[in-house]
Amino acid sequence: MTTTTPAPAIRPAAPSRPRPHAPESGPWVGRPVDRRDGPTKTTGTATFSAEYQLPDLAHGWLVHAPIARARITAIDDAAARAHPGVLTVLSHLNTPRLKPSPARPSLLDMSTMVGGTRVDYLGTDEVFFDGQPVAVVVAESLEAAQYAASLVQVDYAPLPATIDFAAAAAAGRATPVKQSLGMPTLVGSVGDADAALGRAAHVVDLHFTTPGHNHNALEPHATTAVWDGDRVTVWDATQGIDWFRKHLALRFDVPVESVRVIAPFVGGGFGGKGSVWAGTLLTVLAARVTGRPVRMALSREAVNRVVGGRTPTRQRVALGADADGRLTSVIHEAVLRNSPVGGGPEQVVGASGDLYASPHVRLVTSMVTLDLVPNTFMRAPGESTGSFGLESAVDQLAHDLGVDPLELRLRNEPETSALHHRAFSHRRIRELLHVGAEAFGWADRTPGGRRDGSQLVGHGLALAYHPAWEFPANVTLLLRRDGTALLRCGFQEMGMGTATVQAQVVADALGIPFDAVHVDYGDSDLPIAPNAGGSTQSASIAAAVLRSAAKLRRAVSQLHQRPGESLAQTLTRVGRDVEVSVGSDVGVGAAATSVRFIATTLLNQRRWVRAASGAHFCEVRVDADTGEVRVTRWVGAFDIGTVLNAKTAASQLRGGIVMGLGLALTEETVVDGRTGRIMNAGLAEYHVPTHADVPHIDIHLLDDPDPTMPLGVLGAGEVGITGVGAAIANAVFDATGRRVTDLPLTLDRVAP
Ligand code: MOS
Repeated sequence: MTTTTPAPAIRPAAPSRPRPHAPESGPWVGRPVDRRDGPTKTTGTATFSAEYQLPDLAHGWLVHAPIARARITAIDDAAARAHPGVLTVLSHLNTPRLKPSPARPSLLDMSTMVGGTRVDYLGTDEVFFDGQPVAVVVAESLEAAQYAASLVQVDYAPLPATIDFAAAAAAGRATPVKQSLGMPTLVGSVGDADAALGRAAHVVDLHFTTPGHNHNALEPHATTAVWDGDRVTVWDATQGIDWFRKHLALRFDVPVESVRVIAPFVGGGFGGKGSVWAGTLLTVLAARVTGRPVRMALSREAVNRVVGGRTPTRQRVALGADADGRLTSVIHEAVLRNSPVGGGPEQVVGASGDLYASPHVRLVTSMVTLDLVPNTFMRAPGESTGSFGLESAVDQLAHDLGVDPLELRLRNEPETSALHHRAFSHRRIRELLHVGAEAFGWADRTPGGRRDGSQLVGHGLALAYHPAWEFPANVTLLLRRDGTALLRCGFQEMGMGTATVQAQVVADALGIPFDAVHVDYGDSDLPIAPNAGGSTQSASIAAAVLRSAAKLRRAVSQLHQRPGESLAQTLTRVGRDVEVSVGSDVGVGAAATSVRFIATTLLNQRRWVRAASGAHFCEVRVDADTGEVRVTRWVGAFDIGTVLNAKTAASQLRGGIVMGLGLALTEETVVDGRTGRIMNAGLAEYHVPTHADVPHIDIHLLDDPDPTMPLGVLGAGEVGITGVGAAIANAVFDATGRRVTDLPLTLDRVAP
């Protein structure tokens, strides 16, 4: 299907194998229904975390350390305190300590994985990164807090700091990653890839670099918090209410039930709001200390300084092939960075074990530890940058062999995963290549590019790939005698369309109209849901919705349902409403769910390779004199399993591709190698794509349910960005003959 013009009603294709979670047949799943939160947002009536008006609201502002490693020797806050309207200045000299963040994250308790950093904010005199908050000013007005923050004098005794990623990696300071905390592929090998490379008829051996990135969600991180005794209510721009809530309970040493988190609207996250960062912790702390409701909305610069971004990478991709272009060896090595106070590895090399057939594979990940704000998840962490290396190298191999890069990929399409010889739950990459090539007119291009006036025109192709996951989710589902339904689930809506899509799932599962379904979300008083991350939310919640619908049907059938009678008709006749719940939030039920989740996840990882995939085709025009790259055409063909909503799914994929344009062409977080200060912590100097940078993006979806995922859904949030960097770099190579291996593809790298 193409979504260039919305189709009226799109139904899932017939499954290729029986599915454990067969979707109910119905007219709503798949339809390009408009997002329910759309009008609220576009008319400005949606209330975001920094917009809640509370009586006596006070305002917080951060004082940041301007040094990467140091001990604080003195703080003079007298002038700040004397400023009119200032309520207090909090620092490690006068502030009660938070409980420590868990040193070791555990899959059994996901709240331990969202600490952001392990810094004991305002509990230590030690500075671990430039930008670390060392004091918080709380005042009656935002202006007073901001100005007073500039009056706080902090003295530091510097400590030695390691800042420069390239230098640290080159100096051999990278430590290999051994275990992968649930991530299937950070390391691994089969056969002897180095020996096979040595024997190969054709060899491509390339080194790549990608810079750090920052998320730059439209809505900066913001928190409003108010305590009532030992209970706290927090409005926060979070991607995950439940783990966030548990993390706050842990740090503030109160029962989980005492923390209420409300987040009905989140203005984009991309992973940057998946953890609990300093702004949140210090707002909640300031509210506790002052006894006032406190709001703190971080400046764009502060978001960059206190919230981690994407790790830079250094990669080596070496491919060996026989005379026919069949891969005999795949080597992918990646160096990433973390920090002594947090951060972790990403699956940069992951797709290289799955995407192509090869008897010999070696994948390696290692890390250098830098004194910078820890890295964190950012849209397709690992796959977005790793695919740049792998898919650029495959393109180079095709060029060296004189084979069409599409044909080379078809020749190397695997039966099972190369690394683990695991079955693919779903693999339609051949079709994606054909569908995309057809829509793009790949066969009609001039290989090697052509000149059009002062422009060099080239075409590029790259695969997209992102693993599919599911997490346990809890819901309640109520069907009323009037035929309306209420789904309650504490999931997050960051603009992806989750609430709309799950209403479609409920409508079909209960056989009622879409408009009869109401969905409550974004509140920790609701049954708990996983983070909106890892492209897992739709499948995870759909699984719980389907289970609840089945439970509801059983309950109604016990009410003497008559043959041919719909659920709602039975309830009308007997004059009853029925509510069921799925999952357990607390106690042994919750613990059992965690254990079952880990067991199932590990089992699934051994049995299947499950992933969303895609094929990008693009055209670029490179200015022959300046090297400026403009992307002028884009076709993306995707296999995301079942398409729940053709409009929101296509928007997710387009959004991923747009973010990929930034990754390819402009985005780079520049760190001063002397100080650790981010030099472009704002949108004026960190360039995200604007409308003028984005061509029409034509999205094609196969809409074929994955046989192993709930409702056949593989996830759409992240796969779109993967492969984009390589598709553009490959098109630039086609246009100019220049193989650029360092992102972003700025003029200096592309120009002749
Ligand atoms: Mo994400 S990086 O799964 O928000």
